[in-house]
Amino acid sequence: MTDNQESPDAEDTAPSGSATLPPLRPPCERLQCHKSSVCSRSYFVVVMVFFHVYIINVIALLFYVHYNSGQEDANRSRDAPSSNQQRLEPGPPPSKPEFLRDVSLTRIEGIRVGHVQRVSLVPGKVHEMRTLSMKPLLFEIPDFLSEDECRVVMQLAQLKGLMESQLMVQDGQEELAKELNLSPEEIFNLLDINQDGQLQLHEILTHSRVRDGIWLTPENLREIYDGLKADKDGNGLLSLEEFRVLSNDAFQRFLMQQGVKRSQLVRNSRHTWLYQGKGAHRVLQDIKARVTRLTRLPPTLVDLSEPLQVVRYEEGGHYHAHHDSGPVYPETACTHTRIAANTSTPFETSCRYITVLFYLNSVEGGGETAFPVADNRTYDEVSLIQNNVDLLDTRRNCNKSNLRVKPTKGTAVFWYNYLSDGRGWVGEQDEYALHGGCMVTHGTKWVANKWINIDPDYQRQARYQQLVAQQPEEEDDEGVIVNPDTQSSDIHQDL
Ligand SMILES: *[C@@H]1O[C@H](CO)[C@@H](O)[C@H](O)[C@H]1NC(C)=O
Ligand SMILES: *[C@@H]1O[C@H](CO)[C@@H](O)[C@H](O)[C@H]1NC(C)=O
Ligand SMILES: *[C@@H]1O[C@H](CO)[C@@H](O)[C@H](O)[C@H]1NC(C)=O
Repeated sequence: MTDNQESPDAEDTAPSGSATLPPLRPPCERLQCHKSSVCSRSYFVVVMVFFHVYIINVIALLFYVHYNSGQEDANRSRDAPSSNQQRLEPGPPPSKPEFLRDVSLTRIEGIRVGHVQRVSLVPGKVHEMRTLSMKPLLFEIPDFLSEDECRVVMQLAQLKGLMESQLMVQDGQEELAKELNLSPEEIFNLLDINQDGQLQLHEILTHSRVRDGIWLTPENLREIYDGLKADKDGNGLLSLEEFRVLSNDAFQRFLMQQGVKRSQLVRNSRHTWLYQGKGAHRVLQDIKARVTRLTRLPPTLVDLSEPLQVVRYEEGGHYHAHHDSGPVYPETACTHTRIAANTSTPFETSCRYITVLFYLNSVEGGGETAFPVADNRTYDEVSLIQNNVDLLDTRRNCNKSNLRVKPTKGTAVFWYNYLSDGRGWVGEQDEYALHGGCMVTHGTKWVANKWINIDPDYQRQARYQQLVAQQPEEEDDEGVIVNPDTQSSDIHQDL
């Protein structure tokens, strides 16, 4: 006890510079009395107060770290790369490869939701860029395009001609079913997420929301059960016995027999691609230059990205929530750098670091861009379907999305589909970047997408750029891009 008394004593004399501080406590009486019961009780109180304040501080610190950990990737990657690396890669000391030392992708800071920064994108005009969410890192810029520019882009798209974004039925599904070398029991076990020996509707939908490009809802599934007489006891659950009598492609065949409406597809829209390279319409080149200024990325990366995609949704059109990019594993190649990839790489995904979405008109009703899990505290794929509500279904559940952006003519929104790797390059896919187009209830909706393609594998991106630079002079966009139309069907990751 006497030992302990020295530390508050020392503290009392220590803060010599802080003359403005009021006396912390009346120490003299307390120190001078000897172990009287009053004295030790007050000392006990002081110690307990210290102790509690300390504990509360620790808890507050833990909460702070917990809530900010998602944002730190985005915010601190440039400012404090070393601390970030330690967090992401415990173990071996981070060694930045030689070729990465002079390359660093700018990542615009969001600061916080609602933060507005003024940006200079065209001479004599200042745009306001507002942060809409931190997860994903998402911004809105009103009046990014002028009315004239919106009109020209829509006219150029019409001139070129728009095609269905999704064809009704693709072949090959049967082959997939044949390749599926699993017994009904094994499949049942995989689907049965909560392992209760029965398949709930959402357990089936979580794995197979999309069959053959057809979007399944809980109601569809009940209809299919009825049609196939699969659910004998009619309780909406499938037991293993009920599941066993279904063949692999029973769902498929049933859907095909029923006939499919456009509204049942994953996306219901028409689109086309407009090249923005040399010789393209001045408006298209201007837009590309403005996107480069906006994103502050090396112009070459923007030049070598996909052309501008223009999309038209008629009344009733929609696009269920999806990712613009896929996750990148070591055995995955990026579509845009395919020519630089190892030919033995089995999988391919589109690597769209940034999506810039332009609204070319103001929609009379519906057509919002929905981000179901924007800034959600946690992300859990399985909770996307709960109580028969599928958050990815933009025909029904847009009003349950965390964030919706109203389409306003000339406005651009842009977001990062990948996190930073903490070393100035592209890191992991950002699951929170999930988004979709809500159903248009009145009028037509016109949008354009500019994707900026960057390979998370820096060496592959570098090799690709070298290959392109070596190509003969007719290095128009067209020579470089591997026919985007063939990509478009499988470009978007099926969920
Ligand atoms: C391609 O992959 C093979 C097998 O994985 C490997 O041996 C080879 O070095 C790779 N080539 C390149 C250029 O990465
Ligand atoms: C959103 O966050 C809440 C709270 O952490 C969580 O319960 C819920 O599952 C999350 N939703 C999704 C789709 O991850
Ligand atoms: C959300 O939309 C659905 C149908 O689009 C509607 O039935 C429901 O009442 C809406 N919910 C809210 C909270 O607005």
